[in-house]
Amino acid sequence: MAESEKSNSALSALSTESRSFPPPEQFAAQAKATADWYERADADREGFWAEQADRLDWSTKWDRVLDWDDAPFAKWFTGGELNVAYNCADRHVDAGNGDRVAIHWEGEPGDSRDITYADLKREVSKTANALEDLGVGKGDRVAIQLPMIPEAIFSMLACARLGALHSVVFGGFSPGALKARIEDAEAKVLITSDGQYRRGKPAPMKENTDQAVEGTTIEKVLVVKRTGTEVPWTDGRDLWWGDVVDAASEEHTPQAFEAEHPLFILYTSGTTGKPKGILHTSGGYLTQAAYTHDAVFDHTPGEDVYWCTADIGWITGHTYIVYGPLANGATQIVYEGTPNTPHEGRHWEIVQKYGVSVYYTAPTLIRTFMKWGEDIPAKYDLSSLRVLGTVGEPINPEAWMWFRQKIGAENCPIVDTWWQTETGASMIAPLPGVTHTKPGSAMAPLPGISAIVVDDDGNEVGNGEGGYLVVDKPWPSMLRGIWKDPERFKDTYWSRFADQGYYFAGDGAKYDEDGAIWLLGRVDDVMNVSGHRISTTEVESALVSHPTVAEAAVVGAADETTGQGIVAFVILRGDAAGDESKGEEALKALRDHVSKEIGPIAKPRQIMVVEELPKTRSGKIMRRLLRDVAENREVGDVSTLADSSVMDMITTGMQDSKED
Ligand code: PRX
Repeated sequence: MAESEKSNSALSALSTESRSFPPPEQFAAQAKATADWYERADADREGFWAEQADRLDWSTKWDRVLDWDDAPFAKWFTGGELNVAYNCADRHVDAGNGDRVAIHWEGEPGDSRDITYADLKREVSKTANALEDLGVGKGDRVAIQLPMIPEAIFSMLACARLGALHSVVFGGFSPGALKARIEDAEAKVLITSDGQYRRGKPAPMKENTDQAVEGTTIEKVLVVKRTGTEVPWTDGRDLWWGDVVDAASEEHTPQAFEAEHPLFILYTSGTTGKPKGILHTSGGYLTQAAYTHDAVFDHTPGEDVYWCTADIGWITGHTYIVYGPLANGATQIVYEGTPNTPHEGRHWEIVQKYGVSVYYTAPTLIRTFMKWGEDIPAKYDLSSLRVLGTVGEPINPEAWMWFRQKIGAENCPIVDTWWQTETGASMIAPLPGVTHTKPGSAMAPLPGISAIVVDDDGNEVGNGEGGYLVVDKPWPSMLRGIWKDPERFKDTYWSRFADQGYYFAGDGAKYDEDGAIWLLGRVDDVMNVSGHRISTTEVESALVSHPTVAEAAVVGAADETTGQGIVAFVILRGDAAGDESKGEEALKALRDHVSKEIGPIAKPRQIMVVEELPKTRSGKIMRRLLRDVAENREVGDVSTLADSSVMDMITTGMQDSKED
């Protein structure tokens, strides 16, 4: 096949990044995960995973590492039995570490609470006893909608202890969204709170959850008192946490469940239709959660102070606040609030207060910090930091560099971790003591994981070429299905490359000249300009590499001449938001900058300066809505937007810019 035809079938890999940063020498010398882990895992994949499973306490050892006979339905560690909650709490107490702080909890209004592993074991036991009294047992589903308070973690682990499945629903989701999830999972109990703090003010919670519960399978609603706000009450159904859990016994004997016993359902939105209930099970999930938390963050229990800033309502909160760190006996920060309450230095104040050494966050937040200005983190002592991590979307090289310089003092490896709700735990990420990282690249599959970039026909592409990311071998924390919908599971993830048996992640990716993997965004976001498939991520990164731009979102809009034209929406940096940077000249300079960075083909047809971008509550840009604006359509469904007024602002701005 001719070179040009070949690159047409996949994604054009346009930008090049030549910077590369080895781990600091001292860091590499002490790192736990070393280069030979890759070789060991390649030589004997199942043996490697068996070794990782040995991190856990099993009441019965497994007799088979992987059963893939019924692909794509995997079974890991069959014959093995364990209790997940025992692994996350009791065993650390049994090992003599009951006094170690598990959670330094920081409330948004400034209250705080330290929870040791002994406290955690006690609280989880009490919660499990209380839930058992409410009729919750093995295989039942419990819905949880709570703010970032310790009771959220106690609840999840109490479910795990009983063999019940939790379905955590993010605190910002509407009653309708919660109801749909309760109904799909047929949950028996809902755990919620009276209210939650949002940007310094108490906001109602139970009022909303009451609407969701109406007419569903929910029998009991357990309510944590957080804000002290008045709440509506249904006698016989509603119970205060303080009455039920605080009165429960502190003794609870955990029962062992088989490795494939379901642990939780977590709903994630698909491109169309109703949310998918992603199902994860116990032994394999906990193995990969614990292994990756240890290896990717070079985590040492009792020494590191770890902080993952995600919300418990997302998979990142499940795997890297609850299961991974607690299985590893970590000491971690859990912060209830928003990063600018009461001031824009809140995160750095917390890092300084607790001496945080590992800080794991989302690119969208890093770009927000950039927008607020580097003088804010500069006011705090961040010298305790030793590893920085990102997750959730591709990180633009400029944001990566800013993170490295302004937060990490050029001294902390950055681990850009690629994974999904479906993969359960990190898949592609650097090992911080081994990998020479490149700004914006997740680099390579972790030891034990195999993922490749393929073309339309499922053939692996060469270095310097782009295509689709697939996982070509099963992994322990892989989703075991979509709740009640095996056909959708096969269809969504396994039909695109059915002949090869590859898991289709839905992401575009490329290999650079050295074979490092660069994620290029969801394939549905790919633009097609004059027959070239261009990744939105690359154009966005080029825009963000201009000194005046803080954040950018790019979409392809229908174009008579080129098929699609590139329309960019940019937020300017705090110090560049003056009128000149919005003028014709400045916008032309930005378009030229993109052209220079990645080539004239990627030059935006139009650039709009905006104040905010439409994002989901987990911080992902909703390009679908921007495409509506760019193509002059009525803006579609905005119900999953974090702030729905954003779209009005952008639409008005777009009309103004046309009238100019
Ligand atoms: O597109 C990829 C992007 O987020 C998607 C998964 O989203 P979710 O299930 O909400 O899980 C997010 C937290 C694990 C992926 O298909 N994504 C996630 N991490 C990265 C990423 N894209 C690029 N680089 C990453 N590090």
